[in-house]
Amino acid sequence: MRILGIETTCDETAASVVERDHDGHGHILSNEILSQIAQHQAYGGVVPEIAARAHVDVADILVKRALDAAGVKLRDLDGIAAAAGPGLIGALLVGVSAAKALSLVWDKPFIGINHLEAHLYAGLLDDPTLQFPLVVLLVSGGHTMIIEMRGHGDYTILGRTIDDAAGEAYDKVARYLTLGYPGGPIIDQIAADGNPTAVDFPRAMMHDGLDVSFSGLKTSVINYVRKNPTVSNTDIAASFQAAVVDVLCAKTIKAAQQVGAKGIVLGGGVSANSALRAQMTERGNAAGFRVALPSRAMCTDNAAMIAAAAWHRLKSDGPMDLSCGAYPNLKLSDVPR
Ligand code: KG4
Ligand code: ZN
Repeated sequence: MRILGIETTCDETAASVVERDHDGHGHILSNEILSQIAQHQAYGGVVPEIAARAHVDVADILVKRALDAAGVKLRDLDGIAAAAGPGLIGALLVGVSAAKALSLVWDKPFIGINHLEAHLYAGLLDDPTLQFPLVVLLVSGGHTMIIEMRGHGDYTILGRTIDDAAGEAYDKVARYLTLGYPGGPIIDQIAADGNPTAVDFPRAMMHDGLDVSFSGLKTSVINYVRKNPTVSNTDIAASFQAAVVDVLCAKTIKAAQQVGAKGIVLGGGVSANSALRAQMTERGNAAGFRVALPSRAMCTDNAAMIAAAAWHRLKSDGPMDLSCGAYPNLKLSDVPR
């Protein structure tokens, strides 16, 4: 069974073909991605209108590349999926419309996919031996959630950010330090040369439940730099990162203990972060949990995770109607229709 996945929720255009063998293991036959970051960099963030137009320019090229790289023809596909939300409405519409058009012309099942659910499948696609229940830490530019995954499509959000997403905090701190966009990878890189204990930034809500908060941390960083203008960016980056990672690890492990998880899985762009990966592995293992880290390419937005989630959706719900829309504010447990 082969599914073409298309991803255009934000600033990457991506297409991928994923094949399932009879025992349900997924194989990524191709995973093409084209980032628009260069087109948004001058503005310090994603400009929705530019994103939508850039997706229109390259969506068909990416689909062709994904099919060619997989050695698969459209007629050989068993389904065509696109992320239907959450995301930027203009961007989402490009991928959803492309997938629907191909599905109509080639008479293939169409599957509209929840992008957040797809992030959970990135880890499972990389490691099919993972067993439920799992606790997934989903940390991206728009979301920060600690999720209990009891089975396919069966989720409970145990904790979430009450203000900024983790990636948003990285991006805002990087913008304040004029390091560039997106801030996460840059802070990750320069933090390696800094001292993570140079500044003891606050770990907000550390002992209250499973929710997290990053807005106060961002303000503390800004205030500290204002008062100490000679402090090095590397020390600030390392100390800021240490606070983010400390909170994320502590809360995720606490959640895993509470629900008796069989493993901890990371997902979303921030899970590409080296400190988060290292510490979650160390602290999770020490607490007796298996910790699954998807490859960095599977952490950030990609289309293989869309195709992987689509296989499970197709199995449980069958093909979707072509009247399925694009939904900018889709929640994790919402199934696009
Ligand atoms: O999942 P993603 O690619 O897009 C969505 O938001 O859905 O996540 C992008 C976010 C950005 O905020 C970016 O700064 C952050 O992930 N990010 C990182 C790293 N790589 C990407 N944050 C920290 N360390 C990284 N290495
Ligand atoms: Zn994402």
